[in-house]
Amino acid sequence: MHQSGSLTGRFLNYRAALKPVVRRPKGWLEIRGANTNNLKDVDVDIPLGVLVAVTGVAGSGKSSLIHGSVAGRPGVVTIDQSPIRCSRRSNPATYTGLLEPIRKVFAKANGVKPALFSANSEGACPTCKGSGVIYPELFMIAGVATPCEDCLGKGFQPAVLEYKLGGRNISEIMTMSVDEAGEFFSRSESRAPTALTILERLADVGLGYIKLGQPLTTLSGGERQRLKLAAHVGEPGDIYVLDEPTTGLHLADVEQLLGLLDRLVDSDKTVIIIEHHLAVMAHADWIIDLGPGAGHDGGRVVFTGTPADLVAARSTLTGKYLAAYTGI
Ligand SMILES: Nc1ncnc2c1ncn2[C@@H]1O[C@H](COP(=O)(O)OP(=O)(O)OP(=O)(O)O)[C@@H](O)[C@H]1O
Ligand SMILES: [Mg+2]
Ligand SMILES: [Zn+2]
Repeated sequence: MHQSGSLTGRFLNYRAALKPVVRRPKGWLEIRGANTNNLKDVDVDIPLGVLVAVTGVAGSGKSSLIHGSVAGRPGVVTIDQSPIRCSRRSNPATYTGLLEPIRKVFAKANGVKPALFSANSEGACPTCKGSGVIYPELFMIAGVATPCEDCLGKGFQPAVLEYKLGGRNISEIMTMSVDEAGEFFSRSESRAPTALTILERLADVGLGYIKLGQPLTTLSGGERQRLKLAAHVGEPGDIYVLDEPTTGLHLADVEQLLGLLDRLVDSDKTVIIIEHHLAVMAHADWIIDLGPGAGHDGGRVVFTGTPADLVAARSTLTGKYLAAYTGI
């Protein structure tokens, strides 16, 4: 028996249990005659108000079905796998829209314009134009940057930093972690409910430790993916489509993600998740399995039903793997 205190060690022997009870659909979205790419006139009913996993081998037609027949409908928020665009000037606060409510409370508390509290706008240090760094010409091509001497890398005009909220200036807020900011904006003298909602979602995807002002260019791949998720699940919608959101995540992170998805579904939303991850399938309320093979040999629905029924039937490749994984 190995012993390990590390998260990886703890999850190495992890087996997902199927949920004893699954949620019941509140309605159905009827797809008829879907034939995008390799799909063979697929008829399928997608349950609403539950967590749906779309499964099947690579190339079986999962993305074709969901992007071709679900995404783009009104009320559908689609989170694809494309990497987020980032620059030295974008950070978790700008990317998630968190900076907006923060600027507003700052402006209100000080009786000045919100634009002052943005390093991309009026409040920017004129020397570095808000980026906090200078690229000496000689090193421009290599992209070597040195901190701006005028604003000491903060990106703001000195005058802007005189304005305070709850005893802190805007630059100090940007060095807070998500968790610290959550505590700060809960206090009565610096309360910002809209900011708190966004901060909670960031904590939900496991980014509580990330600094609000950390340049997106310096985030890890998994951190960027989760940031994207946190930003998009905040968009108003009824159906959320996620295409392989667990790519690059540790099993510990997957569990956290499942918690976030559960909260979405419990707030009356439908979540459709295209996934290869067995822990996600085991956690779903409903599975739509495509196959049996890839390309030509795929494009059909080979199973729809609960994970327990999929495992009991063992009639598809996914069913067999899920049975082995859950040890049933
Ligand atoms: N734009 C396209 N033009 C032609 N064929 C395509 C196009 N997009 C996908 N296909 C083909 O359709 C089949 C299904 O692709 P799809 O992307 O739906 O698979 P998938 O189940 O989502 O796979 P993966 O798990 O790898 O994402 C594949 O054989 C793929 O090569
Ligand atoms: Mg796909
Ligand atoms: Zn500067």
